[in-house]
Amino acid sequence: MKDWIVLDEVSFVRSRRAILDRVSWRMGSRDHWVVLGGNGSGKTTLLQLLAGYLWPSSGQVTVLGQRFGQTDLRELRKSIGWVGSFLGAQFPPSQRPLDLIVSGRLASIGIYEPPREEDYGRARDLACRLGCEHILDSPYSVLSQGEKQRLLIARALVHDPCLLILDEPCAGLDLVAREHLLRSLVELGSDPAGPAMILVTHHLEEIVPVFENVLLLKNGRCLAQGPKEVVLTPEILGNAFGIPIQVGRHGDRYWAWMEGPRPAS
Ligand SMILES: Nc1ncnc2c1ncn2[C@@H]1O[C@H](COP(=O)(O)OP(=O)(O)O)[C@@H](O)[C@H]1O
Ligand SMILES: [Mg+2]
Repeated sequence: MKDWIVLDEVSFVRSRRAILDRVSWRMGSRDHWVVLGGNGSGKTTLLQLLAGYLWPSSGQVTVLGQRFGQTDLRELRKSIGWVGSFLGAQFPPSQRPLDLIVSGRLASIGIYEPPREEDYGRARDLACRLGCEHILDSPYSVLSQGEKQRLLIARALVHDPCLLILDEPCAGLDLVAREHLLRSLVELGSDPAGPAMILVTHHLEEIVPVFENVLLLKNGRCLAQGPKEVVLTPEILGNAFGIPIQVGRHGDRYWAWMEGPRPAS
């Protein structure tokens, strides 16, 4: 198995504050990881570094075998699919879902060259795979949040990325929409030809079975990393979130709750 990501003592400093602080991490090409941490722990910053949208203040970043500083980041980004909740707001309300998916081929918003018939065929296949074939005739603006998110995943997959980065894709989804989306991720992650995935979340319930490993951040530092059975303990999570936490497990799903007296407000 190749390494898809190697971070070596990576720091990202802004206004003399280390938003990421000497993070080292190795992710294999067949692995699916969850990046877990509270609000402001540095998760999105880490993802932006991986896709070359931010540059580390120190340390070395190697993604898909390309060492930053010696590679064309625009080319690298074509091999990375990105789904962030912020993207959703940027599409024209009347855009057709198929055009939205196809636009991912250019890794840009909108279509700047005429798409080919085969692009639409592929977009249709992906829509079926993500369970959104029934919404292909509706304008983007009328879709539910869950439908929009699944479309954005299809869009991120249209150029066959080696790495799929999902930044809180379940944010704002109701229970059914969330479970539907997570099921799509399980199917995608079980496909040997599918991309390696990184799922960012702060909810343990979203760590579905295909995600075997967890990188846990706190204040920009890596507090723990490795198999989820090792990382998702009350001790480690209590330390990460700064409160006593209990961890439950039902089958192959986890959840967490806060223990002890109410914190002073
Ligand atoms: N460019 C920046 N300049 C200054 N502070 C930043 C910058 N980017 C992020 N931050 C701060 O760094 C912290 C981590 O942000 P972020 O990576 O978005 O956290 P998360 O995704 O885990 O919620 C936050 O406190 C945020 O306000
Ligand atoms: Mg974030």
